[in-house]
Amino acid sequence: MTSSGGIAIEGVSMQFGGSQGVTALDGIDLNISGGEFVAIVGPSGCGKSTLLRIVGGLLEPTSGHVYVGGKTSGQARRDVEFGFVFQQPTLFPWLRVLGNVLLPDRVLGRRNPNNGPNSKDIAQELLRDVGLEGFEDHYPGQISGGMQQRVALARALSYGPNTLLMDEPFGALDEFTRDRLNLQLLEVCNKTGSTVLFVTHSIQEAIFLADRVVMLSPRPGRITRVAEVPFPKPRTLEIRYEPGFAALAGELRGLLVGDDDIELAMNQP
Ligand SMILES: Nc1ncnc2c1ncn2[C@@H]1O[C@H](COP(=O)(O)OP(=O)(O)OP(=O)(O)O)[C@@H](O)[C@H]1O
Ligand SMILES: [Mg+2]
Repeated sequence: MTSSGGIAIEGVSMQFGGSQGVTALDGIDLNISGGEFVAIVGPSGCGKSTLLRIVGGLLEPTSGHVYVGGKTSGQARRDVEFGFVFQQPTLFPWLRVLGNVLLPDRVLGRRNPNNGPNSKDIAQELLRDVGLEGFEDHYPGQISGGMQQRVALARALSYGPNTLLMDEPFGALDEFTRDRLNLQLLEVCNKTGSTVLFVTHSIQEAIFLADRVVMLSPRPGRITRVAEVPFPKPRTLEIRYEPGFAALAGELRGLLVGDDDIELAMNQP
């Protein structure tokens, strides 16, 4: 088990559909410190979402254990310690932006540590942090996809979760919007001190955001590499042009595509 706020993943394997079924994950061991930002990268179908669901207490692994701040993941979920952000923002279209951010407060009631007379102030501050001041009264249908995703992030943070679990949250966005949200995410995490587990297909995004990047093999997902990202925080987008960034990106991409394809992959943006 790790100290408070950290995540310990111990020998986690996941088999769907019994012994003849699909092995999604095989023997995952990973310790994440409290406040650390870890990105998970791997090919489609290698078990990234499955791992996130196991850590978040939404799915029991076939074998192994996960502890979050010393609790089982199921207990941590019941104690409302996770904020989830998925690829689609899943907002309620009939609620305004502020109403969507306040929804966990309404649903969780007394279980929400931020609940109280100032929960609306907290929601408004979070909307400011993600650059949505002035849009509190808009409906989701009246704002862009990137703005909707920022609402989802503000909502996930609204009840002060220790741990943010993010599953390709910016995958559907254009590059410029993604860059802006990456910067905002780092700023918000710096402020909240949340532990973050962030799934992405983008090696560049993983290196830019994370303290460590975890590479998974094709299914069954196994850890092939845990790379420390050598750039101090706070970061600016310019670090992507540093030689060390390109070298690390090339090395990690080589793990995904295999040695034969590495030259081809290195030439891709
Ligand atoms: N509930 C389920 N029942 C049966 N098989 C499942 C279930 N959930 C996932 N799988 C299988 O487990 C494997 C891993 O799925 P998972 O969604 O974790 O992959 P992923 O790495 O997130 O992929 P992607 O990058 O495409 O989102 C896949 O083969 C998938 O079909
Ligand atoms: Mg997935």
